[in-house]
Amino acid sequence: MIAAVITERDEKDALNAIKKIKDADLIELRLDYIKNLDDKKLKNLIKNCRKPVIATCRKKSEGGFFSGSENERINILKNAVKLGADYVDIEYSSDKNVIKDIIKNKTKAIVSCHDFKQTPSNLGDIYNNIKKLNPDLIKIVTYANSVTDNFKIFDLIKTANEENKKIIAFCMGSYGQFSRILSAILGSQITYSSIEEGKESADCQLTMNEMVNYYRIKKLNKNTKVVGLIGNPVEHSWSHIIHNSAFDKLNINAVYLKFQVDKLKKFIEYMKPLNLIGFSVTIPHKVEIMMYIDGLDKQAKGIGAVNTLVVKNGKLIGYNTDCPGAIRALKQKTELKNKNAVVLGAGGAARAMVYGLIENKSNVTILNRTVEKAKLLADYFKCDYGSLDDLKDIDYDILINTTSVGMYPKANELPIGKNSIKNNKIVFDMVFNPFKTKLLVEAEKRNCTIINGFEMLIYGALLQFKLWTGKDAPEQLMRQKVMEFLKNASH
Ligand SMILES: NC(=O)c1ccc[n+]([C@@H]2O[C@H](COP(=O)([O-])OP(=O)(O)OC[C@H]3O[C@@H](n4cnc5c(N)ncnc54)[C@H](OP(=O)(O)O)[C@@H]3O)[C@@H](O)[C@H]2O)c1
Repeated sequence: MIAAVITERDEKDALNAIKKIKDADLIELRLDYIKNLDDKKLKNLIKNCRKPVIATCRKKSEGGFFSGSENERINILKNAVKLGADYVDIEYSSDKNVIKDIIKNKTKAIVSCHDFKQTPSNLGDIYNNIKKLNPDLIKIVTYANSVTDNFKIFDLIKTANEENKKIIAFCMGSYGQFSRILSAILGSQITYSSIEEGKESADCQLTMNEMVNYYRIKKLNKNTKVVGLIGNPVEHSWSHIIHNSAFDKLNINAVYLKFQVDKLKKFIEYMKPLNLIGFSVTIPHKVEIMMYIDGLDKQAKGIGAVNTLVVKNGKLIGYNTDCPGAIRALKQKTELKNKNAVVLGAGGAARAMVYGLIENKSNVTILNRTVEKAKLLADYFKCDYGSLDDLKDIDYDILINTTSVGMYPKANELPIGKNSIKNNKIVFDMVFNPFKTKLLVEAEKRNCTIINGFEMLIYGALLQFKLWTGKDAPEQLMRQKVMEFLKNASH
């Protein structure tokens, strides 16, 4: 079930927010947020919810705003019971007799424990202590300081499932954001969302729109297959929008999540036995990931980097779709054979690009800020190299930016001096955010044919989707979803 959390400070604003809620199964009234709350306001709020209500009045030590006495707080919860709240959330740290009284009522009791700093090592004890009180729901929410903290929470959900206990458990924070969805698939009973951006009640809470429309939370169940992006950071990625819309269109019971991963080896070990179909891999894991997988496709081996993992008979196989994605984007606009191509940058994306260009018989020069890195890559692929300044002296047909220069939020930057962009050439920028980078704007002024990173992103995503599902992805829908996202996003 998905609960919309009301965090308005004023009764009127809360009532307005409640009116707008459509997709939630439950409404959590954060009564500690409401200024000057009295019985009349409480009654009015509960009455107007039109959906099952969770009454919560969080004390400060568990992340709440309630500033009155403990007696006053407990009275609010008891009144909520009398006024017909369907659930009451009471902290395990409250007086145990009060908790027992609340549990006795018809209203369902959620006995909760929150840790806003960490995921403590004694989670099992916390779970067992709450379990002894026999509430309707045990709620344990912690802060993830590493991706591995989520696994402690998932293990707890597994225990609760085995013991037929109803649990709500997930992690807060950017490392824990994916657990707000994955926990629900694994058996956590309620996931919470804000009604809109800026109204979150906890760090990295997703909005109702993201939960319902981007992640399709209402369509997920214990058979849902999992796929997702491994990177660090991952917050600016749109891949979840592209792939989840495609799963929805083709009625595939799968979800694409974003995993912020610090401990890569441990992440792979824990996730592998789950109901997985694969992963996308991005910065900084594209090379290290090769140490933890079971096999490599020939092209990924040649490139020396992996951006896609596919589960085949329980084994993780590495692919690289950056290369064919970039080559397809280029070939929409130009032949590659015998063309002089300059690649700016010598990182992971450059490796994939240079491999593809050489495979297609282009003459390649790699230019990079750190010339030693350009030399290393050029030695590996047996091509020319130099510094970014050398561009002005090179006679090229195709210019490709694989550096991250010009990427949001530094969208006003160029990887090279604008005078080195020559007239009537092909210019491809792998940066896809913003949609048209400064390099492409300058290239257009010089009558160049431009190709943006969005094309490579889409072509790469189509290949990934095929590898994971065996099906052709709905390309137009994927393009439309990204364009919609770009229009609505501030970046
Ligand atoms: N469109 C797509 O589908 C797609 C796919 C993959 C990647 N990309 C994009 O490609 C870009 C690079 O990705 P990557 O994986 O190759 O990253 P990476 O391995 O970290 O390499 C980054 C490259 O950018 C250079 N660079 C960074 N800051 C610079 C600066 N201020 N001035 C000059 N050069 C600078 C680095 O030069 P040094 O060696 O001197 O540090 C290095 O060559 C990113 O923007 C990424 O989003 C797009």
